[in-house]
Amino acid sequence: MYYLIKKVFEQKPVNETIIVKGWIKSLRQSKKFSFMVLNDGTTQKDLQIIVDATLPDYENICKLTMGSSVEVEGLLVAAQGKQPVEMQAKRVHVFCLNNEDYPLQKKETSLEYLREIAHLRSRTNTFSAVFRLRHVLAQATHEFFTNESFTYLHTPIITASDAEGAGEMFRLSTLPLDKLPKDEKGRIDFKQDYFGRETFLSVSGQLEAETFAVGGLGRVYTFGPTFRSENSNTARHLSEFWMVEPEAAFNTLEDNAALATGYVKHLIKKSIELCGDELEFLASRYSPDNLKTLEHVMNSPFETVTYTKAIEILQQEITKGQKFDYPVSWGMDLQTEHERFLAEQYFKRPTIVTDYPKAIKAFYMKQNDDGKTVRAMDVLVPGVGELIGGSQREDNYDKLVGRMNEMKMDVANYWWYTDLRKYGSVPHAGFGLGFERAVMYISGMQNIRDVIPFPRTPKNAEF
Ligand code: 4AD
Ligand code: MG
Repeated sequence: MYYLIKKVFEQKPVNETIIVKGWIKSLRQSKKFSFMVLNDGTTQKDLQIIVDATLPDYENICKLTMGSSVEVEGLLVAAQGKQPVEMQAKRVHVFCLNNEDYPLQKKETSLEYLREIAHLRSRTNTFSAVFRLRHVLAQATHEFFTNESFTYLHTPIITASDAEGAGEMFRLSTLPLDKLPKDEKGRIDFKQDYFGRETFLSVSGQLEAETFAVGGLGRVYTFGPTFRSENSNTARHLSEFWMVEPEAAFNTLEDNAALATGYVKHLIKKSIELCGDELEFLASRYSPDNLKTLEHVMNSPFETVTYTKAIEILQQEITKGQKFDYPVSWGMDLQTEHERFLAEQYFKRPTIVTDYPKAIKAFYMKQNDDGKTVRAMDVLVPGVGELIGGSQREDNYDKLVGRMNEMKMDVANYWWYTDLRKYGSVPHAGFGLGFERAVMYISGMQNIRDVIPFPRTPKNAEF
């Protein structure tokens, strides 16, 4: 009977003759027998197979190289090694024998090099671990929000509105680039474009999610790809990334922060429960204390601090000798170095910063009575910085439209969004979690390009 290697370790059919298939991780040879280490991608654990020299085509089996694909039939036996079972081969069938030009040789291959051969990197222990973990985080996301009575909503990828108002959108058009149609005033005539108007790839599903949360389903979440043309070539930015965006009617900022805390803790809990082997492997390679830290985070409260207080703390630390590249003053946006300092060194735990200056935040955030700040929250985590951005939303029609006018937005274009504040308007709040940043945080990987299958970044769309 054919077994996936994961099932071999789960079911341990000892003393049975079974079939396994996979790719060779290594082959250590001797005159009397060889040790073949096999994996099929379903588990972090490798199956050790003993191939006796008495097998008819032993000479050919000895020629098998790393990454070659085989089917092996053999007897599963109990073992004393790293794994509780191993196999004694009776028959080896070769699917494909790799030549010496196989780009993944046993020698240590850098993560940078592996990005250049992203079509092969899932064959390494590191990347198979990262992507099994990514799967578990996706599954845990659906589980958490389902348990919290949220409905999964698929929001559009093509949109005519800039949800964040930051102008970092990729244009979508079928107009001929070499012969753009013009209107009477000499401007590009988007009426002739595919959708009869300007359209873009979405930077967030929030605005559409809000329409379903307010008066419709009450609690919804989106989980989909989002696109930003911000020119940030950092280890934390992608041009295409996945975002999880819950939106809940009747939630205040405090409820929103509690929801975010519960969600992050659930992600950690499920990772430890279902991906212990993966986390241990990644920790041993890239961040030795990671597992201990995650367990600590799961079992302790997050810190909460207002933006104004956070600025005071940073300024105090500067007078005590702390150095930053960017100067710190009230009104500025926190830079990654500030965010990481607060979470990693000052509070030493995930930190929720609230009530940012309205000038640096999006138009839809609820305005505080001080006239200066909004009910925003960012969740900062050690190693990554901003993991989550969210807010309570402005639910007052006049205040929302007033702010949009102040920001010189085309209010008419958002008629359906402002309508929500006319009919059955309620306090509501939501947030967006950058899914790759969550994978980075929990895996301990340091570059966002290493936690998405095929990263899209400025000047890079290979594969
Ligand atoms: O803070 P942001 O821009 O918030 C929003 O988009 C809101 N609409 C969310 C909401 O309230 N529903 O983005 C949310 C998160 C960030 O905290 C960050 O983790 C991630 O998305 N993110 C990115 N991740 C990778 N690459 C980028 N270029 C990212 N930009 C934001
Ligand atoms: Mg943000």
